[in-house]
Amino acid sequence: MSEERYAIWGASGHARVLAALIALRGGTVVANFDNDPRASGIGGVPLYIGQAGFDQWLATATAPESICGLVAIGGHGGRDRLAIHAMFAGRGLRLAPLVHPRATVCATASLGAGTQILAHAVFATEARLGRACIVNHQASVDHECVLGDGVHVAPGATLCGCIVVGDNVLIGAGSVVLPRLSIGENALTGAGSVVTRDVPAGAQVVGNPAPNP
Ligand SMILES: CC(C)(COP(=O)(O)OP(=O)(O)OC[C@H]1O[C@@H](n2cnc3c(N)ncnc32)[C@H](O)[C@@H]1OP(=O)(O)O)[C@@H](O)C(=O)NCCC(=O)NCCS
Repeated sequence: MSEERYAIWGASGHARVLAALIALRGGTVVANFDNDPRASGIGGVPLYIGQAGFDQWLATATAPESICGLVAIGGHGGRDRLAIHAMFAGRGLRLAPLVHPRATVCATASLGAGTQILAHAVFATEARLGRACIVNHQASVDHECVLGDGVHVAPGATLCGCIVVGDNVLIGAGSVVLPRLSIGENALTGAGSVVTRDVPAGAQVVGNPAPNP
């Protein structure tokens, strides 16, 4: 069990998922940030609004270099996750992967800083994951997949082996991507899609097969 302290940017449902995981690991969320002043936040955790709120918190934080920064922005928000991740790094926060105790991460896999591996996800042998990625509940990233920065593999999605995924891609909930394909940066696979061919950068594909012949 860790006794780590965390600061989370984003005050939506994903933030509450991360807070529950941190509590399970014996850690504490010490601060929460969001750009929306109407955000509901994480129960009991002080909420600071925008960059000014973050800087105000940082000015009085105790040993901020020992606090882990996490970005709780899901969906197709890879660019935003990476930008806030870079801001955290620039302000001296720690950036480390957060792995649920009931996820499976193979010893030969590698995880980038600030990545989040949630409950019952599988990250298999020799798979590689960039910075600020999310492998969500019950998602599976199989052997030798290489994922860029800011990628989100949504709940229940399956990446078969040897797939290359570019930066800021969203693999939609329940998508299946067949082996050895490549998904270009900023692309999106719709929920439930079965991806049978390479997906170009920036494309959005849905259905079975996707892209359609
Ligand atoms: C593909 C997607 C981005 C399209 O969103 P959108 O642009 O708002 O599209 P709309 O909801 O307006 O739907 C447009 C059309 O596409 C269809 N469609 C939408 N998503 C689809 C999907 N995943 N598979 C098949 N068809 C889909 C709709 O039925 C609609 O068809 P119609 O024009 O015949 O009525 C979205 O539906 C999706 O799948 N997002 C992934 C969500 C996800 O997994 N998030 C992770 C959260 S943790």
